[in-house]
Amino acid sequence: MTVTDQSSIFEALLEYLRRSRGFDFVGYKRSTLQRRVTKRMQVHHIDNFGDYLDYLKVHPEEFQALFNTILINVTSFFRDLTAWEYLAVHILPLIIKHKSPDEPLRFWTAGCASGEEAYSLAILLAETLGIEECLRRVKIYATDIDEEALTQARNAAYKAKDIESISEEFQQRYFKAVGDRLALDGDLRRLVIFGRHDLIQDAPISRMDLLVCRNTLMYFNAETQKQILARFHFALKDTGFLFLGKAEMLLTNTDLFSPLNLQHRIFKKARTMDRRDRLLVLAQNRKEEAGMRSAFNIRLLEAAFNAMPLAQIVVDSDSNLVLANQLARSRFSIARQDLGRPFQDLEISYRPVELRSQIERVYEEGNSILVSDVIRTWSDGSIQYLDIEISPLQQNSNDPLGVSITFNEVTRYHQLQEELERSNQELETVNEELQSSNEELETTNEELQSGSIPIL
Ligand SMILES: C[S@@+](CC[C@H](N)C(=O)[O-])C[C@H]1O[C@@H](n2cnc3c(N)ncnc32)[C@H](O)[C@@H]1O
Repeated sequence: MTVTDQSSIFEALLEYLRRSRGFDFVGYKRSTLQRRVTKRMQVHHIDNFGDYLDYLKVHPEEFQALFNTILINVTSFFRDLTAWEYLAVHILPLIIKHKSPDEPLRFWTAGCASGEEAYSLAILLAETLGIEECLRRVKIYATDIDEEALTQARNAAYKAKDIESISEEFQQRYFKAVGDRLALDGDLRRLVIFGRHDLIQDAPISRMDLLVCRNTLMYFNAETQKQILARFHFALKDTGFLFLGKAEMLLTNTDLFSPLNLQHRIFKKARTMDRRDRLLVLAQNRKEEAGMRSAFNIRLLEAAFNAMPLAQIVVDSDSNLVLANQLARSRFSIARQDLGRPFQDLEISYRPVELRSQIERVYEEGNSILVSDVIRTWSDGSIQYLDIEISPLQQNSNDPLGVSITFNEVTRYHQLQEELERSNQELETVNEELQSSNEELETTNEELQSGSIPIL
């Protein structure tokens, strides 16, 4: 097989990951990605991407291992110590100096892995301002795409060797032994808000004084880096700073940031975007916001929506699919990327039943509609029954926001009904048999009484 064949199969593999799991690795550098995937292939003694794609299709448990391998979580407290020292001495005081005493201070560490970077920043801020003032003014948003890493980060408990890079003095001040771990001070922990956020797909958090994104941009190709940097520009206040990793350079979009200290990769937000750039970022954001909005302010709503025991989707008044809970995504193969797409382009709009005309009716009548006993046939021939309810979502009586569509699976109810019918039929047969035996008995009795049966 040629190199071209292999690379087009590799693209098919990435597309499969995107479609089936919502992980979009298309913007990552191919060299790094292929090395990471090859590492997983070696574990299973597979020597080409096509076979590995087949393997993934029949072994879904492999996904997690693959994602863990691709999303390299290597990190440490005060990684590249001199850069953090520079930040503590020159940048943090500068940020604080230009604020009034009660003004909030906002920080974002993007690609925070298991939290060490965010807590390093928290320690420096506590040293600079004192913990009381930090609790009043400081918010550190710490995000990553990797939920497992975020769980570790939220726990804020580390092994002794993980905190070796922290000075003895800070170790004493900010950690205490709990079992075999060293737990971070509770107040310091409260300064950091963790959340899942995909740098490629999610809208940026805004009004930041400092954005720390270290050793993460380097995994993306130039085009994706460019898009992310445009969002970082948008995320920062005009007086904000960007802190990158030691090995990272601003290859693109250098006009959006100017170096403040190149050795430590600290940049200032430069010119404000022109109208075109701003529209570009806003357009991207709006598209994403349709599905996800900020990772933080709708976290609770999302969790509640996802926990619903019914599959549910929401279509807005512009006929775009804007929300789909976990059950709906898995039952109807909706990928994260489908959020924000025109509803009519998605299979769910016409299969298992045509829904667009029903949505029109809901808008016209202003009431919910129930479509009962919709039959869905699976590829293996099995049948599922659904009750589908389409309800208007209204802000006030004249202003429809969209519709909510819930899919209530009633297959079990149908099975019970069929079982009941079968039992009834059986009962009927038994009844008939009983009746006929009865009649026979009665006839025999009559015959006996009339003496027509010869008694032997
Ligand atoms: C090498 S770690 C860097 C950790 C930390 N910033 C540091 O410098 O020590 C890279 C992190 O980027 C995260 N990452 C990869 N792709 C991402 C994406 N699309 N959005 C957000 N985070 C991502 C990975 O999960 C990983 O935790």
